[in-house]
Amino acid sequence: MKADKAPRPKILVLASGNGTNLQVLIEATRERDFPGQIIAVGCNRPQAFALERAARANIETFVVDHTRYDSREAFDGAMIAEIHRHNPDLLVLAGFMRILSPGFVHAFRGKILNIHPSLLPKYPGLNTHKRVLEAGDKVHGVSVHFITEELDGGPVIAQAEVNIAPDDTPETLARKVQEKEHILYPIVVRWFCEGRIQLGSDYVLFDGELLQEPTRLPDN
Ligand code: GRF
Repeated sequence: MKADKAPRPKILVLASGNGTNLQVLIEATRERDFPGQIIAVGCNRPQAFALERAARANIETFVVDHTRYDSREAFDGAMIAEIHRHNPDLLVLAGFMRILSPGFVHAFRGKILNIHPSLLPKYPGLNTHKRVLEAGDKVHGVSVHFITEELDGGPVIAQAEVNIAPDDTPETLARKVQEKEHILYPIVVRWFCEGRIQLGSDYVLFDGELLQEPTRLPDN
């Protein structure tokens, strides 16, 4: 008789917009050997195309519309309640454009991943492609990190580089960076679901060892 398989970790994805990262995660988790399953997708914007992508994949969705709340704490409280209802093992932020309150981060500490379009700690915040060009950098990229109370400041797990060409614009860079996002995020989500990465106080443990430097995928 076959031994029962351990249940696959439950992933809840939060998004605000187009949801291309959600799409690649839907496809990755559909693979038979993927060690996690997306159980719900939550959005703060009712028109987010990410909701449509989830519905097409028969994944449950919910909306907590931030415009209906007077404060970030009130919005986060409603979001926390929805998330608890699904009892996920992992929250994946995929273009979720709300800053989370310390209470939110605390409620799910060590269980929230984010993807940011720069090689953190360089360029936290918005407009990263424009800023990287203005600075004259030769290399740009994307980072996947644990969320902590510090905005875009949680410990970085992995990065992928993008070489900057002389004729790159913010638009061409955005495309190149997104291509890398779509490779990197499923890899890191897989690691989490396999139990290979954990958040320490302000560091990452990879296979139980302190991760000295984020894993880096070079551009080719
Ligand atoms: C990505 O570029 C990600 O780095 C940022 O938001 C964007 C989301 O894109 N955090 P999409 O909605 O997954 O297409």
